[in-house]
Amino acid sequence: MGMSSFPSERLRRLRGSGALRRAFAETSLAPSDLIAPLFLKEGITEPAPIASMPNQFQHTIESLVKEARALASKGVAGVILFGVPSHKDDVGSEAWNPEGITQRGIRALKDELGDEALVIADLCLCEYTDHGHCGILKGEAVDNDPTIEAYGRIAVSLAGAGADLIAPSGMMDGQVGAIRSALDSAGHEMAPILAYSAKFASVFYGPFREAAEGAPRFGDRRSYQADPANIEEAVREALADIEEGADALMVKPAIGYLDVVRVVKEATGYPVAAYNVSGEYSMLMAAAEKGYLDERAATIEVLTSIRRAGADLVLTYHASKAAEWLA
Ligand code: PBG
Repeated sequence: MGMSSFPSERLRRLRGSGALRRAFAETSLAPSDLIAPLFLKEGITEPAPIASMPNQFQHTIESLVKEARALASKGVAGVILFGVPSHKDDVGSEAWNPEGITQRGIRALKDELGDEALVIADLCLCEYTDHGHCGILKGEAVDNDPTIEAYGRIAVSLAGAGADLIAPSGMMDGQVGAIRSALDSAGHEMAPILAYSAKFASVFYGPFREAAEGAPRFGDRRSYQADPANIEEAVREALADIEEGADALMVKPAIGYLDVVRVVKEATGYPVAAYNVSGEYSMLMAAAEKGYLDERAATIEVLTSIRRAGADLVLTYHASKAAEWLA
């Protein structure tokens, strides 16, 4: 076969130098695409390392604000806060206490960050209930309708504390509508909702449950979170959330669910966030600690892949280091 028969298209031409590769990259990744999850624990005086999540801490208010300041200075888009109260009960009443740990954390974060970065409030009950489920129980099952009523109360208290976005993660039916109408009735009609629309019942939340102290005491979450086998259902969840007033959508986890990110983006045209969850983070960090993977290269590849799938924002525990690497 002579040279003349070689096809004129050579895809390698645009890969020949770093400058060519950068100029023709289809996907961008910047600190402003990243949201850092942060944990705030009531009643501790020093930040406590989370054993299953290297470099992550349960913060005090002081260390939380310091960490958020550092993140904002590196250009990250914002933080999402998970409060861990010292008092838990069967209905999770600390979740809507205007002086609760989460509400105090939001106020402190907003005071520090102003308009520099977002403070997103995760809205769920699992960190606040003594049984660790994401809602109010009837027998051993989560009772949907009283639960979304409670979510409405929680949303009002989180918006009242100054949260820029309310992010309900409990996967109850009608939760976005209940939260929207509670916010509107309380004068928070401009408080946006970032709905965890397609949240799957994933084993990759394991390390988070240590961090947020929200593991269920019995059973699991498969009667409310989606089955990992389902993608058409994920689209229906997203469309239902839009119908109920969601402003932006989330898919979670991210790495194993990139097809879901893509299809939710294409089916809705809405802003989509993807949550690169605790187990995805810890898996990469464990491999890096063992020397099996290069942490920096693996992190940038993973985050770029999530953006390529269609995510506008990536929630990730890698945010702090990734923002430095991307500076
Ligand atoms: C609360 C909540 C969970 C996560 C975010 N919000 C845990 C769960 O549903 O069990 C997981 C986040 C992560 O693993 O990083 N409902």
